[in-house]
This record gives sequence, structure tokens and C-alpha cells, in this order.
Amino acid sequence: MTYEEFREEIRKLVASNRYPSLKSYTLPALWIAEKNFPRIDAEIMRIIAAELQIPLIEVEEAARFYAMFHTEPKGKYIIRVCTNLSCMLNGAEEIVKELKKLLGIEVGQTTPDGLFTLEEYECMGLCDGAPALTVNEERFLRVKKEELPQILKKFGWQGE
Ligand code: FES
Repeated sequence: MTYEEFREEIRKLVASNRYPSLKSYTLPALWIAEKNFPRIDAEIMRIIAAELQIPLIEVEEAARFYAMFHTEPKGKYIIRVCTNLSCMLNGAEEIVKELKKLLGIEVGQTTPDGLFTLEEYECMGLCDGAPALTVNEERFLRVKKEELPQILKKFGWQGE
């Protein structure tokens, strides 16, 4: 998506009249950016601020506050491992440790080939499937450490 196409998307979103005020389109607009750009950069934030007629700082704060938005370059696939209580009690720590080992990165980092970003995440509402992780939109429940290579391979991992 180009910046101009993005601006058009924001205009269409606002024209939908789905939300009560221009400001309340901030998160939906950021979500469109998150899905269509490698990162939410300064120009994207400027477009949102201009289209929604709100101060740039408000867009910046929202983009940096919510973990689902990336202001730094991210991998093609974002692996999010829930590390809240249910998942922690069911082995999330071991899952994170194994993923760090397999991918050779720390939490918050992206693999050098740009394929995977590893993140720890708050409860995803999948507690009955703990430990849970997602790769972009796909969910994996009751994940076992031994299943991780197979999961990664599905997304193009070349390891092992
Ligand atoms: S605690 Fe992990 S999904 Fe709820």
C-alpha cells in the first residue's frame, strides 16, 4: 500500500461513520497501517493526524502504547506467546525459551532474514488452550515444545 492509498483508506473509514468522533478512528486507522506496512512510521502518523484532525502526539502515543502496533520494522510473521497466568502455569516460559533457541533471537527481536518477530503477549482469551501462541492471525493451542519446529516450518523456517 502506498501512503496515498493509505490516506484514501482512512477517508473511507471516516466516511463509514462507524465511530462517534474523528479521534475515535485513531486505533482503527493504526490497525490498517499495521496490516499494510512493515512498520508505522512518521509519515503514516502524520497522515492519520491530518485526516483525523488531531495532534500528532496523540497518534504517536497510541502507536507506541499498544503492543499490537509496531513503530520499528517487524518480521513477516509475528509470533506472540501469551505469558499470562494460565499459559505460564502450563509451560509458556519453556515455549519462549525454545523459540529463542530455535530462532536465535531474544523476545522483541526479528530474525536476520526478516521472517519472524518474537513477542511475549498479554492474555489472548485462549486460556482454555494454554499455553497459547499466535503466528500473525493463526492460533496454536496447548502448544508443546516439541511441536515448535513443525509450527515454524509452516511459515518458512529453514532451521533443523
Ligand atoms: S493466560 Fe494465556 S491466553 Fe489467557
